[in-house]
Amino acid sequence: MEVKTSLLDNMIGVGDMVLLEPLNEDSFIVNLRNRFDHNEIYTYIGSVVISMNPYRSLPIYTPQKVEEYRNRNFYELSPHIYALADEAYRSLRDQDKDQCILITGESGAGKTEASKLVMSYVAAVCGKGQEVNKVKEQLLQSNPVLEAFGNAKTMRNDNSSRFGKYMDIEFDFKGDPLGGVISNYLLEKSRVCKQPRGERNFHIFYQLLSGASDDTLMKLKLDRDFSKYNYLSLDSANVNGLDDAASFRTVRNAMQIVGFMEAEVQSVLELVAAVLKLGNIEFKPESRVNGFDESRVKDKNDLKEMCELLGIEQSVLERAFSYRTVEAKMEKMSTTLNVAQAYYARDALAKNLYSRLFSWLVTRINESIKAQAKTRHKVMGVLDIYGFEIFEEGDNSFEQFIINYCNEKLQQIFIELTLREEQEEYIREDIEWTNIEYFNNAIICDLIENNQNGILAMLDEECLRPGTVTDDTFLDKLNTICAEHQHFESRLNKNSKFLTDHSLPHSCFRIQHYAGKVLYRVEGFVDKNNDLLYRDLSQAMYKATHSLMRQLFPEGNPAKVNLKRPPTAGFQFKASVGVLMKNLQTKNPNYIRCIKPNDKKVAHIFTDSLVCHQVRYLGLVENVRVRRAGYAFRQPYESCLERYKMLCKKTWPHWRGPARDGVEVLLTDCSVPTEEFAYGRSKIFIRNPRTLFTLEERRRACLEDLATLIQKIYRGWKSRTHFLLLKKSQVVVAAWYRRYAQQNKYQKIKSATLVMQSFVRGWKARNILRQLKYEKRCKEAVTTIAAYWHGTQARMELRRLKTEARNKRAVSVIWAYWQGTKARRELRRLKEEARRKHAVAIIWAYWLGLQVRREYRKFFRANAGKKIYDFTIQRIMQKYFLGLKTTTMSPMDNTWPAKPYGFLEGAHTQLRRIFHLWRCKKYRGQFTEEKKAVYEEKLEASEIFKDKKALYPSSVSQPFKGDYLEIQKNPKYQKLNSAMEEKVLLADLVNKINRANGKGSPRLFLLTKSNFVLADQKTGQVKASVPLPDLASVSVSTQSDGFFALKLKEGSASASKGDFLLSSEHLIEIITKLHRIGTTAADRDQINIDISDEFLVQFKQDKVCVKFIQGGPKNGNSAACKRKNNRLLEVSVPSP
Ligand SMILES: Nc1ncnc2c1ncn2[C@@H]1O[C@H](COP(=O)(O)OP(=O)(O)OP(=O)(O)O)[C@@H](O)[C@H]1O
Ligand SMILES: [Mg+2]
Repeated sequence: MEVKTSLLDNMIGVGDMVLLEPLNEDSFIVNLRNRFDHNEIYTYIGSVVISMNPYRSLPIYTPQKVEEYRNRNFYELSPHIYALADEAYRSLRDQDKDQCILITGESGAGKTEASKLVMSYVAAVCGKGQEVNKVKEQLLQSNPVLEAFGNAKTMRNDNSSRFGKYMDIEFDFKGDPLGGVISNYLLEKSRVCKQPRGERNFHIFYQLLSGASDDTLMKLKLDRDFSKYNYLSLDSANVNGLDDAASFRTVRNAMQIVGFMEAEVQSVLELVAAVLKLGNIEFKPESRVNGFDESRVKDKNDLKEMCELLGIEQSVLERAFSYRTVEAKMEKMSTTLNVAQAYYARDALAKNLYSRLFSWLVTRINESIKAQAKTRHKVMGVLDIYGFEIFEEGDNSFEQFIINYCNEKLQQIFIELTLREEQEEYIREDIEWTNIEYFNNAIICDLIENNQNGILAMLDEECLRPGTVTDDTFLDKLNTICAEHQHFESRLNKNSKFLTDHSLPHSCFRIQHYAGKVLYRVEGFVDKNNDLLYRDLSQAMYKATHSLMRQLFPEGNPAKVNLKRPPTAGFQFKASVGVLMKNLQTKNPNYIRCIKPNDKKVAHIFTDSLVCHQVRYLGLVENVRVRRAGYAFRQPYESCLERYKMLCKKTWPHWRGPARDGVEVLLTDCSVPTEEFAYGRSKIFIRNPRTLFTLEERRRACLEDLATLIQKIYRGWKSRTHFLLLKKSQVVVAAWYRRYAQQNKYQKIKSATLVMQSFVRGWKARNILRQLKYEKRCKEAVTTIAAYWHGTQARMELRRLKTEARNKRAVSVIWAYWQGTKARRELRRLKEEARRKHAVAIIWAYWLGLQVRREYRKFFRANAGKKIYDFTIQRIMQKYFLGLKTTTMSPMDNTWPAKPYGFLEGAHTQLRRIFHLWRCKKYRGQFTEEKKAVYEEKLEASEIFKDKKALYPSSVSQPFKGDYLEIQKNPKYQKLNSAMEEKVLLADLVNKINRANGKGSPRLFLLTKSNFVLADQKTGQVKASVPLPDLASVSVSTQSDGFFALKLKEGSASASKGDFLLSSEHLIEIITKLHRIGTTAADRDQINIDISDEFLVQFKQDKVCVKFIQGGPKNGNSAACKRKNNRLLEVSVPSP
């Protein structure tokens, strides 16, 4: 069951200041203190949350707390920042109202922490999912980055935000975060160059030097030692509880999560390093002829390193520190800078560089975290901006003036929105509106921002005015223009009442802010408002090769020279505050007012004066008054009835009707005066806190009565329950005992019965046993007698059966013998009969033969034998000869039938030989003389070449034609033919091999009985005619080529020309013919035919070896001759 609680439960002091009675500053502070001492750091003023900085971590931000406050009504639980965050988030999500959370308070009061708590609460309760978590993470991680660059240790706060920040978090219709936009306000850039005593520069400088790796520092040309840098204050470089190195890692990690590229991080660090280097550049005076001093850079090392880091030409920057170009109406003038001016320029550059870098960071973060979806967003803005700043002894300067102006504006919005809200609620609830008296600070805002005679407008006017402008001239102006203003005070005012006010120095003016009077020193106002950076410097920066640097100084672009002055700092701030205010006005405001309890930054100390000061200038008591102007307390009818229903019998314990009626009955019953409350539509409005507390008091008393009643009933119930329990126990115990006794008795009876039972059973059993034994014996005797009797009977039967069987067997044996005898007798008879029948048949056959022989003997007696013999022999021979008829006439046929009879042995062989000779003769007889000669030649060719030259087999089937050129008939060779003295035996085309290259040239080759002739193929002219007796031998290879060498006899007439190496397709025929002529001629030797694969040929003087080798198929089908060297011709013959 859900327990209804209220803010009013267990309250320490009052949780809502609206209920404070009596209301004054003292009671306000006492209440705050009381709550602070009990660790209650949050207190409400209506819906405004006052937050006291506890300066220690309290266990009130746990996930359990988040769950506790999630989806609960604002006043349901004790005051907490989570209640405000939850209310804002739910109103945004469920009612579609844009929200803004305005967090104000002085430095160190806990604004930044509060803003982070709000953001983390919203992150914890809104939707989840991969994309949503990434967005949340990016939004949360933007904080460490901005804090590193925008926060610094100050006297009041170790992590003081030195810029104002407004962040819009954008949500979709479900309430899931989509992205955000950050705006930054007025970074305190003077801190870059100078820090007050006990304070530090921005964190990033210390973090970089402590946390970066040696390698990074080397790249940035930095040294880890803080003392090397003029811009870093040393006395408070190390802050207790701050680990700069760890923070640096956190920052880098956060930058990565937010989406910075590695190169961008590097660029940013380079610019940070450049600022440090810039601070180390020092100047010395150098006298000029005109008597003025001109500044010069003292030690150029830092300048050089800085230029290297940013890619700036050293001379350009050096010049910018010594000269200043003034441009006016198309004229350019260069003036020198003295040392002070050079330092001023340097610091202005450093400040501008750093503040622009900071703005760039904000823009870059915005780029990363901006919402991707284009749908309508719901927005929750969180404003963490400097609260009112009042320094003692008039140390307030331009910055404080600006800050306080901003707070005036916020206060105005607060008043406007609070009153508007109050009024709206009254209208909504249909309650009569009573006018509320409050102080409207619009008049102070007007004093500062009025466009004609506002302080900011006059400052701008002074800054832009030609002539000498100083802070004093500005104050003079103020003194004349604002003299009459009731919130402006100055010593030199026309208003004489301040003439003698010694608390108001001459160089100061005082403004009565809504939060109190503040004394401003005019020194530096003009300068800070001008915020001058010499153009030479911005141009030098623009010339850098460092792209981020160029981006930061766009006005340095010579192509875009703008002679107009840039807007002043005051003007810019006023404009951005204007935009902010417009933005906030469209949203539902939620206020967190932060207060710091002491300025020692320690826990448990509550300094009344300090808190009082803050309460005063935050206008908190005023807040309560405004809030309480009509009705101090309001509550929905349901919760009011629920809380106070016990005060009236009619409503206790349940009221069945509408809640409003119940409340009416209740209040009437409690006799609350009618002017003390008003009935709204859904809420009851209570005018005075006292009424509420009376109700609370009565409730408490009633609760006590109710408690007593509950106690009484509870005690009665408890005793009765105890008694019933005892009674029940007693019954149980008695039952158990009875059961036990009965069990014992039963056991005894049972065992006695068993004994008796066993005796009786024993006796009975023995009787039966005896009986059974007797019966058994009788049965055994009977069985024995019967067995004997049956035995005798059986033996007798057996004997009878045996005798019977013996008789039967004797009968069958005798029968078998008899049958056997009978069978043998029959067999013998049958055999006898058969023998007799056979003898009769033989005798009959003999007798018949005898009869036949006697009949035919007279016909055969004389010549029948020889005739038969002759006839038989004749028939045999006839058959033999007919068998020989199948033999063919081919002399090559070796077949001959097998001999049929042994007696023909000799005749058969002879006949074969004779037949073969006869058929050969027959075969030869059909040849003509020419054919015979041809066969003779073929025979001779076979003798010469068979099995010696591979070419031979292919020549067998080719007839030897002899005259291949048809020399007789062909008119082309007529002349040649006539030149031949004898008959041409062979005429053919050959190739004569040239010894020089192994190539052949065609020649006609003619052969007669006495010589051979070589003639030109075309002309038929005789080239050589060699008588055959001069031919010694012919050489050929063993292979299938047609090469042959005709070797001449040494010393013969023809030998002078040398041997002939020729090739022919009819080699076999040519050689055979040559050989044949040699064989047939009686007057000369036979020509030698030398068959070998290597032979010598005599060409004129030299002998050349012709060598035949087996070549691959690549040579084609014909043999090719190649000259290898002077002494070797190589013929490659294709492999067969
Ligand atoms: N709710 C809190 N719980 C614990 N410590 C807190 C809380 N709020 C603030 N502090 C402590 O107070 C210090 C200062 O708080 P914070 O930086 O938020 O102040 P600030 O108001 O933002 O100041 P400034 O105006 O200088 O930025 C914190 O560093 C933290 O130590
Ligand atoms: Mg802060």
